[in-house]
Amino acid sequence: MIDTLKQDIRDYLEKTLEARFQQVIPVVVEEPKKADQGDLSVPVFSIVKELRQPLPLITQLVKQLLLEGELSTMIDHIDVMGGFVNVHFDKKAMADQIIANFTRDLLNNQLGSSNEGVGKTIVMDYSSPNIAKTFSIGHLRSTIIGHAIGNLLEKCGYHVVRINHLGDWGTQFGKIIYAYLHYGDPAKVEANPIEELVKLYVDFHEREKQDPNLEVEARAVFKGLEDRNPQYLALWEKFREVSLQEYMKIYDLLGVRFDSYAGEASYVDKTDAIIEELTAKGLLVEDQGAMIVDLGDIAPALIQKSDGTTLYFTRELAALFFRKREYDFDKVLYVVGNEQKLHFEQLRRVVDKMGYDFPEDIIHVNFGLVLQDGKKMSTRKGKIVKLIDVLEEAISMSLSYIGDKNPDLENKEEIAKKIGTSAIIFNDLKNYRVNDFEFNLDDMVNFNGQTGPYLQYTSVRITSILATSPIDSSRINEDVFLDEVAFDMLKEISLYQDTISRAAREFAPSILAKYLLHLASLFNSYYGKERIVVEDSMERNAKFLLLFMVRAVLDDGMKLLGMQVIEKM
Ligand code: ARG
Repeated sequence: MIDTLKQDIRDYLEKTLEARFQQVIPVVVEEPKKADQGDLSVPVFSIVKELRQPLPLITQLVKQLLLEGELSTMIDHIDVMGGFVNVHFDKKAMADQIIANFTRDLLNNQLGSSNEGVGKTIVMDYSSPNIAKTFSIGHLRSTIIGHAIGNLLEKCGYHVVRINHLGDWGTQFGKIIYAYLHYGDPAKVEANPIEELVKLYVDFHEREKQDPNLEVEARAVFKGLEDRNPQYLALWEKFREVSLQEYMKIYDLLGVRFDSYAGEASYVDKTDAIIEELTAKGLLVEDQGAMIVDLGDIAPALIQKSDGTTLYFTRELAALFFRKREYDFDKVLYVVGNEQKLHFEQLRRVVDKMGYDFPEDIIHVNFGLVLQDGKKMSTRKGKIVKLIDVLEEAISMSLSYIGDKNPDLENKEEIAKKIGTSAIIFNDLKNYRVNDFEFNLDDMVNFNGQTGPYLQYTSVRITSILATSPIDSSRINEDVFLDEVAFDMLKEISLYQDTISRAAREFAPSILAKYLLHLASLFNSYYGKERIVVEDSMERNAKFLLLFMVRAVLDDGMKLLGMQVIEKM
């Protein structure tokens, strides 16, 4: 709301000044730091400079123009302090406007929506675990962050294509298949696929230390796989399928879905064309038997190994061009950890060297590590952390918490699932993605801190208050909105759409997460100082309406982040 008014005032003044003086005069409108300087302030220095007139004359002129304009109905009074024209809005008029806008958006199912992305497509590549390997905490971050960004972009009108670029190809499959064929136990793999395959892989590396020849053998198997040896292919397909089944359990818990699960393997047959193009453009050079693209100041891009097999980078290039053709994207986002910075820089550089005009549209949405006791969280007491265990731990903590608080609650298990997973999701998203963060389940599953459960709990608390009586929004005592905290809540609500746009533009769900925390804490301080369920129906209606709006925004925001909303707890 304030943002819209700011824009409106600027546009109005620029237009009127231009009409009057026949010249373009840029106008600045800002939000003053101090409350006594009004809600918005116009520093007139730029206007003085353009028009070369005395400052007092210009401040009076601006004040006059504002009082004559259409926005004057929103203005309570204007005062002038030095070179600043300070506008104080009429709180009731603003409250009216905010409520009207909110109601309109809610009825049109457009709360927080905008149309900046209409007609544009964004391809998103996230989650992307490696088959026959454990789903790591890093893949979890990618999944959570990618999912939220996708939702934010859709809210802004973009067409979003969600791709899980499975790591289902590469030399490691030579090793796994070799190990499986030589000393794998099919029954064990059947029973516990990922764990067994990981064991075989680790085992292979142990044996390789004794017998360096194993590496050569494994490479031959991978070469065979690339040449479509039917036995190897069948095994590969099986490993892929069982792995995906495991990952689906995690996606189900998180409520995450993809439009495509086309992994690296699906681009193998498209790499020849890439290599031909690179050759034709004179970009490919030989380096110790391998083919590379020299990138000058950064490490060269590896395109083909000496035995002719493909590489991660080559499959990446093939995937990129495929996506460009298939989806004609405006941008492609790769939600991948900081460790792969160089890889994506190389990708951009190679595309640039090939003469295409879209390297700028290739965006590495990078993120930091998850730490435990200050160290990278991937192993615990020497064992690999299984993500599903972590999720289940969070759920059982939530369950015991509700069990203590509200033993008679129905559907406890269902609710605990929603609390536990949302706790993990929110804890991740409240941190700016590029930073590392410390993983502590006790802090996450806590109803009082800056947590997911705190947001869910705030929404539930509002629900139970609203259940006490219906709201008649036509009979309202607007004096309720003059209270400072109440008015702050309204202003915050009016910033919802703008917050989403900013979060989407910066690919930073943390902007929305922090906003929701702030809104929840405003409500909680209001609730702490104010009686809500009062006798006077006009006063109660106004308060209930305010709460209703807060809850609608909280719920909508939580869903965007990928969290679940709860009715009772
Ligand atoms: N599978 C890769 C890994 O686990 C991530 C792939 C990310 N996406 C991509 N297009 N490179 O490291």
